[in-house]
Amino acid sequence: MQNILITGGAGFIGSNFIKHVLDNTNCNVVNFDKLTYAGNLENLVDVEFNDRYRFVKGDICDKEDVLKAVKEYGIDTIVNFAAESHVDRSILGAKEFINTNVGGTLTLLEVLKEQGLSKYLQVSTDEVYGSLPEDRPEIKFTEQTPITTNSPYSASKASADLLCNAFRHTFGLPILITRCSNNYGPYQFPEKLIPLMIAKALGGEELPVYGDGKNVRDWLYVDDHCSAILAVLEKSRDGEVYNVGGNNEWYNIDIVKLILKKLGRPESMIKYVKDRPGHDRRYAIDSSKIMNELGWKPAHVFEDGIELTINWYVENENWWKKVMSGEYLKYFEQNYSAKMH
Ligand SMILES: NC(=O)c1ccc[n+]([C@@H]2O[C@H](COP(=O)([O-])OP(=O)(O)OC[C@H]3O[C@@H](n4cnc5c(N)ncnc54)[C@H](O)[C@@H]3O)[C@@H](O)[C@H]2O)c1
Repeated sequence: MQNILITGGAGFIGSNFIKHVLDNTNCNVVNFDKLTYAGNLENLVDVEFNDRYRFVKGDICDKEDVLKAVKEYGIDTIVNFAAESHVDRSILGAKEFINTNVGGTLTLLEVLKEQGLSKYLQVSTDEVYGSLPEDRPEIKFTEQTPITTNSPYSASKASADLLCNAFRHTFGLPILITRCSNNYGPYQFPEKLIPLMIAKALGGEELPVYGDGKNVRDWLYVDDHCSAILAVLEKSRDGEVYNVGGNNEWYNIDIVKLILKKLGRPESMIKYVKDRPGHDRRYAIDSSKIMNELGWKPAHVFEDGIELTINWYVENENWWKKVMSGEYLKYFEQNYSAKMH
């Protein structure tokens, strides 16, 4: 692995991963990103002039774009983060999710096959496993859990995983898949739970919480997801699937209360809103395979990770205020405002 094409590298996890790779390997990195509403090159200002970093504006659905970058930079490895990633948006309209998450993955797999690249890693999600019962805390998602998708987003991610399996099986290609739980940390777009709640609390606005707030998610600090992906790239046999999680389950409402407490704001700022349709109740990941086989473990406990994250949003108000203007506001109106009155 020497020259890596990181698709979706201007997004939340991709930009953190680029910095993680530059800091922890000697590899050259090409950030290949279409710059949708979620792509933000400001996430990467501190590596912009790094000799081992290049940015290419391109679309993973456009084979010519991908081929050009692969040939120009002698790419041997692709790590695919590029996706439409927000469940609420997939409920408002699924087409772009199918185009990018399924069609884009197919394009990358075709390039992998035709160019004989040495490795491909698909960044997938625990959401492909559906929802777990709340009253059976001993049950977690393993790599053997059947795919059961409940949202257009998870259906699109699962379809991409199935395509990866098909290309590996049929053509013997070197394909890996990681399925991670909910990430949190710096540079996360403030439509997702943790940054949205921090931004609302700092702005003195109501904090919209879906349903009864008792949906359970397993939270992992973003840099720990990055170290897991790098461990899989460097140490795993081809064809493996690895679950990645924090063993750190929280009710959404408890996360929101924790954020308010840390920011010294009252719980009266919480506003319960109509639940997301088909809202999965509980996700929990069994990460024993990646821990036992590859020796990976998270470096951050939640108490430290959430402190780092809140402090980052407090110190980087400019970043999220810019992000929250324009297109984001229109989307926010469409998705939440009717439910809040
Ligand atoms: N955020 C999470 O908690 C989480 C958890 C598990 C897995 N994942 C997966 O990790 C990946 C990254 O998630 P994220 O939260 O960083 O997403 P994000 O929405 O912050 O970033 C997505 C990036 O992909 C780019 N992109 C979108 N369509 C593209 C296209 N057609 N061609 C090129 N680039 C395109 C966007 O411009 C953006 O930079 C996704 O595949 C997501 O499914 C996310």
